Amino acid sequence: DLLTPKKCGMPLKYISLVTLAVQNAALSIVMHHSRVSTPPSLAYSPASAVLLNELLKGSISFVIALANTREVADIPWRRMSLWQIIRSLPYPGSTPFWNLCGEIFSPDCWKLSIPAILYVVQNSLQFVAISNLPVASFQVTYQMKILTTAAFSVALLRKKLTSTKWLSLFFLAIGVGIVQIQTSFVSTPKNQSVGSAHDSAPLHIHVMSPLRGFGAVTAACFTSGLAGVYFEMVLKNSKVDLWVRNVQLSLFSLIPALLPILYSSTPSSVGFFPGLFRNFGMWAWATVSIQVFGGLVTAIVIKYSDNILKGFATSLSIVLSFLASVILFDFKITPSFVIGATTVLCATWMYNQPPGKEPTVSIVFTGQ
Ligand code: C5P
Repeated sequence: DLLTPKKCGMPLKYISLVTLAVQNAALSIVMHHSRVSTPPSLAYSPASAVLLNELLKGSISFVIALANTREVADIPWRRMSLWQIIRSLPYPGSTPFWNLCGEIFSPDCWKLSIPAILYVVQNSLQFVAISNLPVASFQVTYQMKILTTAAFSVALLRKKLTSTKWLSLFFLAIGVGIVQIQTSFVSTPKNQSVGSAHDSAPLHIHVMSPLRGFGAVTAACFTSGLAGVYFEMVLKNSKVDLWVRNVQLSLFSLIPALLPILYSSTPSSVGFFPGLFRNFGMWAWATVSIQVFGGLVTAIVIKYSDNILKGFATSLSIVLSFLASVILFDFKITPSFVIGATTVLCATWMYNQPPGKEPTVSIVFTGQ
């Protein structure tokens, strides 16, 4: 089996933790830049990005699932010449190919339709949020997904949470609230509008709306929690391969991802495909690539660990993206941001303490 914890030597848990943290930080920075660095008239379509993400992720998962099939895994690749390898590759229409297709369209594949719809909504909301909030504020507020994940884990997976975990969730909400207040009321002109040097008309300026951004990020936290826990439930309640589940997820995502493109209010005069890729520059491709990579890593984290480790990884990414924002976007460090972000980090650390090692507050009476 490709990508199993044992074959990677070092525990795959920690590799995926660090990878996810770096990916999360990179995604919010690159996505933010891809949205605000161009005037709205030259912006790419988020709906196209969401569709491309699913197409690429689904294709990669299909190739990995094919490589994992017994017919392919049993081939002695190392002892074969390049020509023999090329001739042995499972071509579309071969037996392993059709067997895999049969597995993908199994009677229980419909179960993936629920997380698929939720993730498409979430990936679209992410674009709205990141276009209207500074990177660091987006990252910190998005930590609220730990709260929604916990709530859905208790409700759907029947997980039990200790009082320390509930307390840390309460601190998390407070920390996010502090950051939210500072972003809503303190805004720097540099953070609010970005346009090219040639844009003099206000219409060509990207204007951020923090309220819209916070609304989108809050909704994304709900879909993230529910979709993550639902995917974990489907994955861990059956023996179906992770990559087969991922292909099913991407296939069901295609329907909601295509709808906004097909029913777009501004039909493209250049045709479907050229219209799909209109204004798709380097930054748009970078955003989609990082998203695809993140989706694959997230699936591994959910499979070999759970959504709790995922929360820890994303909280690490706050620190990374915060530091990058200071350097790249001239993000102003305000005391309330520092207090809010520190509270979020401490709460996340507290939440992730293993049972028995949780911090306790004890009062010592010295008798004096
Ligand atoms: O913010 P959150 O961690 O919930 O984001 C998860 C991301 O991973 C989403 O973009 C979702 O589309 C993606 N994902 C995936 N495959 C999975 C699980 C999640 O592509 N099996």
